[in-house]
Amino acid sequence: MDEHLMNDAARRAAAYLQGLDGRPVAASPDAIDGLSELAGPLPEELNDPGEVLALLDRYGSPATTANAGPRYFGFVTGGTLPAASAANWLSAAWDQNAFSFVSSPAATRIEEIALTWLLDLLGLPPTCGGAFVTGATMANFCGLAAARHRLLTDAGWDVEAKGLFGAPEITVIVGDEAHTMLFKALGLLGLGRDRVVRVPADDQGRMRADALPAIDGPTILCLQAGNVNTGAFDPALDICGTAKEAGAWIHVDGAFGLWAAAAPERAHLMAGYVACDSWATDGHKWLNVSYDSGIGFVRDEAALKAAMAATAAYLPQSEHRDPFAYTPESSRRARGVEVWAVLKSLGRAGVAELIERNCRQATRFAEALGEAGNEILNDVELNQVMVAFGDDERTRRVIAAVQAEGTCWCGGTHWHGRAAMRISVSSWATGDDDVEQSIDAIIRVAQRTR
Ligand SMILES: Cc1ncc(COP(=O)(O)O)c(C=O)c1O
Repeated sequence: MDEHLMNDAARRAAAYLQGLDGRPVAASPDAIDGLSELAGPLPEELNDPGEVLALLDRYGSPATTANAGPRYFGFVTGGTLPAASAANWLSAAWDQNAFSFVSSPAATRIEEIALTWLLDLLGLPPTCGGAFVTGATMANFCGLAAARHRLLTDAGWDVEAKGLFGAPEITVIVGDEAHTMLFKALGLLGLGRDRVVRVPADDQGRMRADALPAIDGPTILCLQAGNVNTGAFDPALDICGTAKEAGAWIHVDGAFGLWAAAAPERAHLMAGYVACDSWATDGHKWLNVSYDSGIGFVRDEAALKAAMAATAAYLPQSEHRDPFAYTPESSRRARGVEVWAVLKSLGRAGVAELIERNCRQATRFAEALGEAGNEILNDVELNQVMVAFGDDERTRRVIAAVQAEGTCWCGGTHWHGRAAMRISVSSWATGDDDVEQSIDAIIRVAQRTR
């Protein structure tokens, strides 16, 4: 073990994190050009690992996006809580193959504890099966795979063995504003991105309960807890009763919205969702753990395990949790460790404070930018704000100018025919002063961009 190298890595990482507040959020064009210093032909000979790390820090660090810092509001991107970073470094040293109890009792047991805590925190049934995967895309995949298994098994079809050729049809119902990654998961499962029944949405992107079609036969109904642009929730209370009575499997994409359940003042948004069958969320978004980290929860644990089943003579059959029995992957990193560390360090109160603070900060963005004469395009109930700065052309120029100015970073979108800036407040590191600084910068840049 090279202790000097490990200490050097820790020192460089700490210096990087300390520097985040004072640097432009986006990487400069020069820094991006500098990445070519890491190219060249494949080395033929050994290089000193310390020099390799120094090169990476010299040219890699400046070319990063400062999304671990306090003023990154792009996409839906959390930072990494200190407890998560530290646990991530330690578990990197552990280098566990977290696929089974035999290969890693620590990773497996810690993941199991984290799952129990998550179900408690999010108010989901304590007996749910859980899959720690790369992100919400794969968490959606797991929930939908379990749904496909249960519906087709009930219809007398073994989908894992026979595939979908000749299988009974499954109707898939989605809201018109469902997230694109849900469609990707449907496509991967052979359920088709385009053969879904789309339910019209309201002005906030919520599925309209009054437009839900009659449900008949094997059906998966997909709800969105948190629209990626508006933050709005499909009205589960108005939808789930009828759908359950008709025998539908209800799956929830709650990549970031599911965390509303952990915050008393936002929990009403999740009303009715506990009646669903499967839920997908991200740890790397609002729980602020390191990439990559998503979690799928499935009420019918047996369906999830059947969908993910794999056997071989050399693979252990233990009486313990074996993570690969719940996930598409076999070998995998111990991503439950950071989830455990964050939940242990923040506790219920700390998670609630994080969610509430970010929501309050989103409201502050909307108020201040609205008062400055800009148009807020959504009802800000969660952590998402959409702003238009006049016509589409000017809005696009303001977004580009804000990104170039560097105080903060906000992305763009298109909402109901209008170009808009998206502000997603999702980081533990964002303080109220960061919000004020960012508001000032956006207003200043917008005034210059006439
Ligand atoms: C609502 C929703 N679903 C799914 C995803 C995909 O998540 P991931 O990138 O973690 O796979 C996102 C990402 O922004 C999202 O917002």
